[in-house]
Amino acid sequence: MKQPGHDSDALERARIHWDDWQRSQPANQNVYTDWGDHPTVFRAVMRHALGGESENFFTFLQKNYPSCATGHALSLCCGDGAFEQQLLERGVFFQITGLELSPERIAQGRARMSAQNAMRLDFLEKDVNQGEFGKCLFDVIFAKAALHHIQNLEGAFDGMVRSLKPGGLLVTIDFFGPSRFQWTDLQLQACNEFWREHVPPALQREADGTLTPLITRPRVEDMVLMDPSEAARSNELQAMIYKYFDVLEDRALGGALLNLLLYGHRVNRFDAMDPVHNDVLERAVAKERNLMAQGLLSSDFRFIVARAKPWWRRFMR
Ligand SMILES: C[S@@+](CC[C@H](N)C(=O)[O-])C[C@H]1O[C@@H](n2cnc3c(N)ncnc32)[C@H](O)[C@@H]1O
Repeated sequence: MKQPGHDSDALERARIHWDDWQRSQPANQNVYTDWGDHPTVFRAVMRHALGGESENFFTFLQKNYPSCATGHALSLCCGDGAFEQQLLERGVFFQITGLELSPERIAQGRARMSAQNAMRLDFLEKDVNQGEFGKCLFDVIFAKAALHHIQNLEGAFDGMVRSLKPGGLLVTIDFFGPSRFQWTDLQLQACNEFWREHVPPALQREADGTLTPLITRPRVEDMVLMDPSEAARSNELQAMIYKYFDVLEDRALGGALLNLLLYGHRVNRFDAMDPVHNDVLERAVAKERNLMAQGLLSSDFRFIVARAKPWWRRFMR
């Protein structure tokens, strides 16, 4: 049976959504898009997930997977390729082919690409759901904020392992939380309680002075209408990775509370130079980690490195 959001009409709506999103981006890049972009939060996440505040995904991959530096990576749902440019500049991968649905995002990416990177980063306009990535071509599949946009997980994962050379890796930094953002009761309660009790009153207001509404669980129909690709089957992703790959690293980045607390434009209200704001964020991180340690919250975001299993091992327990 077809799932909602899985047809050519849905794909077209996702494309339009991301074209519009790209056009709406401010020229001023000093804004955070997501909770993890905030430097205070990012440092805390690195402390918990990678063992040190000075770590980041680039240093971790360089240290632990140095052979990637000469490799060709396929990046799924690469957007404007801004992160891919950094991966090349930092020497994490040698060459990247990016697949992306939105022509507007690709156009922006090409326009912003540095001359050095133009030789080593190419974009293809492609629907990742098709799983048509070629055979034995890539050393790495890279997927940042990407896998949770895939509806046809079976087709895409088949295509991913087919396209990897023997021993090829999957490197993903992604959202593994509730599909279609159907937040748990505890998640909503923890986030909204923290917002009301710990966030300074001035930060609880919109620019026009009205109170920012508390976070609620969106209706699935509204989610599909807005962007049919959003969190399509995110809660199935982790199991899917373990089925197709031998997992080498699975680091819990958190986010079950922080992603909601700092949702949308809220993250930009927290001034990274303000000690009061930073203290609130550190307390939110501590609360999230505490609830995770008790098994009450799971980690909605994860950093996973995994090696493709040979096909016959995917069917063994
Ligand atoms: C959250 S953005 C992440 C972009 C980029 N990887 C990053 O981390 O900045 C998700 C991207 O997935 C793209 N996308 C959604 N569905 C897709 C599909 N079926 N095939 C290819 N790209 C898709 C969107 O256009 C969007 O650029």
